[in-house]
Amino acid sequence: MKVKAPGRVNIIGEHTDYNDGYVLPFAVNKFVFLSLERTKKFIFHSETMNETVEMDEPKKLNKWTDYISGVIRAFEKRGFVVPPVKIVISSNLPVGVGLSSSAALEVAAAYAISEHFGFNVTKLELVRIAREAEVEFVGVKCGIMDQFTSAFGKKGHAIFLDTMTLNYEYVPLELEGVEINLVDSNVKHELSSSEYNKRRQECEEVLRILGKKSFREVKLEELGKLPGTLKKRAQHVLEENERVLKSVQALRKRDFEMLGKLLFSSHESLRDLYEVSCEETDFIVEFLRKKEGVLGARMVGGGFGGGVIVLSKKGVFEKIKEDLARSYKKRFEIDLTFHKIESADGVQKI
Ligand code: GLA
Repeated sequence: MKVKAPGRVNIIGEHTDYNDGYVLPFAVNKFVFLSLERTKKFIFHSETMNETVEMDEPKKLNKWTDYISGVIRAFEKRGFVVPPVKIVISSNLPVGVGLSSSAALEVAAAYAISEHFGFNVTKLELVRIAREAEVEFVGVKCGIMDQFTSAFGKKGHAIFLDTMTLNYEYVPLELEGVEINLVDSNVKHELSSSEYNKRRQECEEVLRILGKKSFREVKLEELGKLPGTLKKRAQHVLEENERVLKSVQALRKRDFEMLGKLLFSSHESLRDLYEVSCEETDFIVEFLRKKEGVLGARMVGGGFGGGVIVLSKKGVFEKIKEDLARSYKKRFEIDLTFHKIESADGVQKI
């Protein structure tokens, strides 16, 4: 059994998916490839890491194998018996860029196991299993966006997902005259997972103080009751949700000028209100803002480094990227990496 699962890039809707909010991601044409066969022991091999790990029982080792072990545990919790398997993975999905390589691995493992052993769980249940692996086994309290996109992605489309109801719509991604690129800042600040979990707590605190069950019940007018930092966090979430709704309209109308403006304001909000950007990604966005033909840019994913998504008129990015790389190197002594991003289908057999 061989499968591949894509990474994802989020057009807009950052730090909303664990707040019952909206997101607008799409699956990208970079994948985790996974093959699975029955063996006597659990054997996991990563071609990328050039490492093989053998065990009698899936257990936590604080490394890449946890994503697979966590998926097996999540199946077991649901009463499925997963016998020993050999799993070999390889990937052309860069790690730490905000493309969600971990979610792709979890979704690939969940799908391959379900298909191989005929568990026949629904795609949505696969998403839940994959996410549970990350939250309960790996210990990152992520939302559902990454796993959902890796499973439900559709070539030529973005997914407008309501993370509260899990209702979703495919929005055509018809990039006429424009293109999307991803700039990898090549920094990942240590804070990223601790601050991520801290933001989650802050958002829970907002709900507690306001006496609400869901962020969807919170109104901008009520935020005055909150202490300064919490007010900023809540304001980001509410306004980011509005930006997602406007972006869906802009994408449907192919109004890329509007979409670009929304990307820039999302970045400002992530920088000033949610405080999850960093000097390096701020630098990239500010550099791009001044360039003719760049319509929008913002940090993607959890933050504290990682990637910047860029929406520009066709051909423009190619002309400015060397200049950007030079200025960035001069300022931070770090090389940038560029990825041209295209949409792809969700997890499938190969
Ligand atoms: C990470 C998480 C997602 C989401 C983003 C922020 O990528 O895995 O669930 O919360 O951060 O939008």
